Amino acid sequence: MNQPGSCPVAHGAAAVSSVAPNGCPVSAGAAAFDPFGDGYQQDPPEYLRWAREQEPIFYSPQLGYWVVTRYEAIKAIFRDNLTFSPSIALEKITPTGPEANAVLASYGYAMNRTLVNEDEPAHMPRRRVLMEPFTPEALKHHEPVVRELTRMYIDRFIDSGRADLVDQMLWEVPLTVALHFLGVPEEDMDTLRRYSIAHTVNTWGRPRPEEQVAVAHAVGNFWQLAGQVLDKMRQNPDAPGWMQYGLRQQKLHPEVVTDSYLHSMMMAGIVAAHETTANATANAMKLLLQHPEAWQALCEDPGLIPNAVEECLRHNGSVAAWRRLVTQEAVVEGVRLPAGSKLLIVTSSANHDERHFGDADLFDIRRENASDHLTFGYGAHQCMGKNLARMEMQVFLEAFTRRLPHMRLAEQRFSYVPNTSFRGPEHVWVEWDPAQNPERRDPTLREAQTPLRIGEPSAHAISRPLVVQALQPVAEGIVQLTLTAADGRALPRWAPGAHIDVVCGDTGLSRQYSLCGDPADATQWQIAVLREPHSRGGSAWVHGQLKVGDKLQVRGPRSHFRMDESAAELVFVAGGIGITPISAMARRARQLGLRYTLHYCGRLRASMAYVNELQALHGEHLQLYVSEEGRRLDVAALLATPSAGVQVVACGPERLLQALEQACETWPADTLRVEHFSSTLGTLDPAKERAFEVELKDSGLVIPVRPDQTLLQALRAANVDVQSDCEEGLCGSCEVRVLAGQVDHRDVVLTRTEREANDRMMACCSRACGDRLTLAL
Ligand code: HEM
Repeated sequence: MNQPGSCPVAHGAAAVSSVAPNGCPVSAGAAAFDPFGDGYQQDPPEYLRWAREQEPIFYSPQLGYWVVTRYEAIKAIFRDNLTFSPSIALEKITPTGPEANAVLASYGYAMNRTLVNEDEPAHMPRRRVLMEPFTPEALKHHEPVVRELTRMYIDRFIDSGRADLVDQMLWEVPLTVALHFLGVPEEDMDTLRRYSIAHTVNTWGRPRPEEQVAVAHAVGNFWQLAGQVLDKMRQNPDAPGWMQYGLRQQKLHPEVVTDSYLHSMMMAGIVAAHETTANATANAMKLLLQHPEAWQALCEDPGLIPNAVEECLRHNGSVAAWRRLVTQEAVVEGVRLPAGSKLLIVTSSANHDERHFGDADLFDIRRENASDHLTFGYGAHQCMGKNLARMEMQVFLEAFTRRLPHMRLAEQRFSYVPNTSFRGPEHVWVEWDPAQNPERRDPTLREAQTPLRIGEPSAHAISRPLVVQALQPVAEGIVQLTLTAADGRALPRWAPGAHIDVVCGDTGLSRQYSLCGDPADATQWQIAVLREPHSRGGSAWVHGQLKVGDKLQVRGPRSHFRMDESAAELVFVAGGIGITPISAMARRARQLGLRYTLHYCGRLRASMAYVNELQALHGEHLQLYVSEEGRRLDVAALLATPSAGVQVVACGPERLLQALEQACETWPADTLRVEHFSSTLGTLDPAKERAFEVELKDSGLVIPVRPDQTLLQALRAANVDVQSDCEEGLCGSCEVRVLAGQVDHRDVVLTRTEREANDRMMACCSRACGDRLTLAL
């Protein structure tokens, strides 16, 4: 099966929906695919755009692999590690000749299963007993070493005005960190350093026949040395380090942590931790300096660095593709693959899939779902070292932006070591004027540091500076803010119903406001803010402190409140300031020519925003209910007769929403979509809560959630990434899929039917009714 050069498909037979008329998956594009050529090396997602768009899976005769390019398919492959085994992850992608094989044998080379290429049931017990040194708690101890090395290496070239970041820093620092993490004694670091690249070429590259023997010698030496270092470690098993931790665990679980594993991991672990991170930082620096506005933003606001790291890993990650072996017949993207098929899953292409990442080619360091990238893989084998890598990259970027904000890319052509998977420029030449080094004026900058967050970036840290262009009263107690980007650039597109999160100066507060202008206008955003007498301070700050010309930090936009554009009829209901998202939706419904009515209620006409504009735009579609004028909305009458295909979309005070919920009880499921203004969530009271367990199906973990913890906190402590934002059950960011167990829903995001379906929950506040939940994570 899968011999390079031949087509694996009986023409006309195997494809469920054939990729070519005769079922042959080797189209012209597939035949031309060359993962060792310059096109793939320079820009894998661009090189595979045609496949992503037209042929999401194809057979590469050159490799003997099926190539998969879209996000959902690749994630599904990662998710199912029984059907799609990782056993070939470290297999040589280009088989070597007999001479090189003999050389390897002469060194007793016996590289075997580690973690990344181990099948179940052996893998998960091993992963579990070796996980602890990767928890955020444990990783904190490595931060001072990373910072010290970074400072020392930058010191060496900061006054020279020109440097190759790779040769002069990025190759060596992650290697030294990797060796520290593994626990390699200082005196063995230099020799191990020399051999590590040979392993990459041997496994993922295509060395020419005359190079193969030299590579084999280097790999053989590396193997023997790894064994010797391990023997030395055995003599001092209480020393710090992941390998020593493994040796101690071997005593407790000898059948799980085997000798073969330890020797193979000693070698593979260096590569796993070193090249991946070195390349990722080199890619990131290249990308950031190619986008000066992004670089500038990081220099001005280091709080953006964690998300920028994720966006760099997404846009231009250091692992471009990974591999899986099909163990039983499976259908991928409509093509039936027999057992034994080999897959090259091009994660770098998935990371540019428009179906998952809006404006996917755009490099946007504030991108909300950047950390959904697949550069760390996903599921049971997802990179265990991801938070160490993230921490290193954050420290590097923080130091570069602080100490060398004026650096720029020198003229150069970037080259890559030809291989399918590990990707990073061999050199990144940068230049700057040393006379302008900020620390010449302020020497404290050399030592300064921004605190790190170990783990996935918090959505709280991702903000963009906007300027208040206009402040305009639009009703009694309501002010409209017109906001533009501080750098004058276009703002991201948003969908009606989206909101932004405004950081209220240094009050420590941030408040969510729906966007109410024209979604198509990328030059400005508009929000309207009601001064609430009993507000927690946010609206008082907007009304009392803000002036035209002020700069605001804003997060988002986020869209959790959406209307169904395919509904047969839309009934919009807004109460008071709830008109803001509803007005954007009604405008959209009008533009699309949908059937709709807009019901707008308030106490006093003077306190209702946009009445005249709405009347002018919507004419007879608009119904106004002004209670002081004697007209009130009779919700029961409005929704007296259930009708299929109608969607009721509402925003307003709790009382109005409750009345709508009641009236919709007899309507078809999911008729009502609402947005709440405020959470009904109290603070977590450990005395009243119960502990429960969550089983994570995709990662194979079981995590206890204590009574004093939210599910979100427990997941984070166990190194599992979940996005979050408001953490009050309001915004829907932390939604996770539920596979089994009854959920105690406490959010205000899900509709009644969604709650009853019991197939998702908000991790920030909802809990288990029983002792256990199973989640698709
Ligand atoms: C696994 C990428 C840094 C240790 C993986 C996998 C990928 C990956 C793609 C396979 C995932 C899968 O099959 O689903 C990266 C990238 C890094 C990085 C892009 C840097 C930017 C590190 C570091 C360490 C590390 C610093 C530290 C030792 C591991 C381990 C596994 C792994 C132990 C195997 C996990 C398992 O199979 O259970 N990594 N990695 N990685 N990585 Fe990383």
